[in-house]
Amino acid sequence: MMLNWEPRYCIYCVQNQVSACCKKSYPEDLKDMDSTKTTEPSAVTFQPGTTRSRFQTAPETEQGPIQIRKMEPQDIEFTGRIIVEAFHDKVEHAVGKSRMEDMTQLFTKILRRSTHLWHRYHVAMYEGKPAGAMVIKFHDDNAIEDFQCCETLSHVGCWGCCGILCMLFAFTDISIGAAECYVDTVGVDADYRGKGIGKALMERADSEARQRGCTSVFLWVKQSNRAVRLYERQGFVITHPFGTWFTGFATGCRDWYNMEKKL
Ligand SMILES: CC(C)(COP(=O)(O)OP(=O)(O)OC[C@H]1O[C@@H](n2cnc3c(N)ncnc32)[C@H](O)[C@@H]1OP(=O)(O)O)[C@@H](O)C(=O)NCCC(=O)NCCS
Repeated sequence: MMLNWEPRYCIYCVQNQVSACCKKSYPEDLKDMDSTKTTEPSAVTFQPGTTRSRFQTAPETEQGPIQIRKMEPQDIEFTGRIIVEAFHDKVEHAVGKSRMEDMTQLFTKILRRSTHLWHRYHVAMYEGKPAGAMVIKFHDDNAIEDFQCCETLSHVGCWGCCGILCMLFAFTDISIGAAECYVDTVGVDADYRGKGIGKALMERADSEARQRGCTSVFLWVKQSNRAVRLYERQGFVITHPFGTWFTGFATGCRDWYNMEKKL
């Protein structure tokens, strides 16, 4: 069967019902965004066991139990794997168990070339080893990774591609307000969980959001996810539950919470 998908629509085009933007017509502020221009240091070292955000700024080379910094090119494979793992159930529901490795490779490939979004990716190092990752987004960051349907088809097949599209459409009402920060993904390697890395990543989201002048941070989480407790401890409250037959069909889980933290 011949499939002709030209022009290649990315998810940004599909979600926003516009014609192909796959020539990389991302919002202007993203093109101009240069993480090196930020006034905040790229690395923050946390001391675990503290109940408040007691962090000091630190150069990237400084050793500490937990260090959060912007993603660097050498972190891409790790970050791609952690993000797919963080959404393991949802992704497996979308593409099938046998395609999980292909999905990690696909996501890593997309991430490698989505350089315009790298400044939204953060990596947590624990004793110098990559241990966790977080993706945050702000207003106008809806131009997501450089996803191309035909490339996806070649990795995960037709059903896998449909599954991914459904998964992405499940939360169509994610629009990020001008003063909002959206925590898109947070994941910690299974070997490093319970050491305060998730908390440190969430605190980094707060600090990035404050720096940008945001007044709130929000996220979506499965109602059954233990992480709800972590978010509540970090000051998030459940604003409303969300779930339709389509969310269940597309993600394998019908019941989600929207949680928000006022800064
Ligand atoms: C959620 C997660 C990022 C927390 O990272 P962490 O470094 O373990 O978190 P911390 O050590 O700072 O805090 C521990 C809290 O994390 C949560 N947590 C721990 N293990 C978890 C797991 N396997 N799944 C989900 N949440 C978990 C719990 O709330 C825990 O507190 P509790 O022991 O009182 O229940 C991490 O456990 C993870 O990657 N889980 C799987 C992916 C996921 O669910 N991501 C969130 C999607 S919204």
